[in-house]
Amino acid sequence: MAVYQDKTVWITGASSGIGEALARAFAAEGARLVLSARRKDELERVREACTGHNPEGADHLVLPLDVTDHPRLAEAVATVTERCGTIDVLINNAGISQRSLCVDTEMDVYRHLMEVDVLGQIALTREVLPTMIRQSSGQIAITASVAGKIGVPYRTGYCAAKHAVMGFFDALRGEVVHDGITVHTIVPGYIRTAIAEHALKGDGSELGYTDSAIASGMDPDRCAAVILNGLSRGKPEIPVGEGFEMQALWIKRLFPRLVFKKTADMAKRK
Ligand SMILES: NC(=O)c1ccc[n+]([C@@H]2O[C@H](COP(=O)([O-])OP(=O)(O)OC[C@H]3O[C@@H](n4cnc5c(N)ncnc54)[C@H](OP(=O)(O)O)[C@@H]3O)[C@@H](O)[C@H]2O)c1
Repeated sequence: MAVYQDKTVWITGASSGIGEALARAFAAEGARLVLSARRKDELERVREACTGHNPEGADHLVLPLDVTDHPRLAEAVATVTERCGTIDVLINNAGISQRSLCVDTEMDVYRHLMEVDVLGQIALTREVLPTMIRQSSGQIAITASVAGKIGVPYRTGYCAAKHAVMGFFDALRGEVVHDGITVHTIVPGYIRTAIAEHALKGDGSELGYTDSAIASGMDPDRCAAVILNGLSRGKPEIPVGEGFEMQALWIKRLFPRLVFKKTADMAKRK
């Protein structure tokens, strides 16, 4: 039997990209999905695709949610536990990125990145924890990033946010392991999704197009397969990607100056 057969798997950011691909991968395993993001119509589209992957499978729940809407999160958890009984896996995957130099970036953009990429993830995890502690089981994942290990120009706020969630979930891992709960940090490199299109510019507007690094990134379905494999094997950290950025993870530990030089080249002014 597949590891996630009949398990309740709650994925945020399930309306697009990595979250959508993860939904399809878990559906094929026979999981019962809870699909969250802000766009209900996109979630409905993903639910239909997931049902197609496993027509015999469970009835997936579409639960629209803005992770920055903290008062609504407790209610969302109550809905999931009432409808599904348990929460076996929570994948904190919702996120937005940034494309602007620090000198051009308004403080509100930094605040918003922190609200979505850090506080939203903490707030939902905090609400789900009591249920998992009662169950004495559960898996909590966070989609962090290589940007959570390496600072990259044009992404000062995004890198700060991803470094922050790395720290939060590493600390949480040690706290909850005694309750039968495991924590998994997903560390993607460039993955071909809509992340750049929706990335914030310095004035808070969206970039509106995909940049070359993302366009030539890893296929999201391949990414989802690596993540699912890592989760099913209980890996605390799941690196996933295929470009130079994945080598940079270990190069930075041994030769940090080399990586600093390479990243500086990315920000060369005209
Ligand atoms: N693609 C990459 O190269 C890459 C690399 C490293 C890490 N990541 C991380 O992977 C995660 C998924 O991103 P992606 O690449 O799949 O990009 P994506 O295609 O743009 O997906 C982002 C998802 O987050 C949701 N979202 C955004 N703001 C939200 C909010 N306030 N509340 C709830 N949901 C929200 C979006 O749905 P709605 O718009 O419907 O709300 C969408 O489903 C992010 O955390 C990102 O930082 C991506």
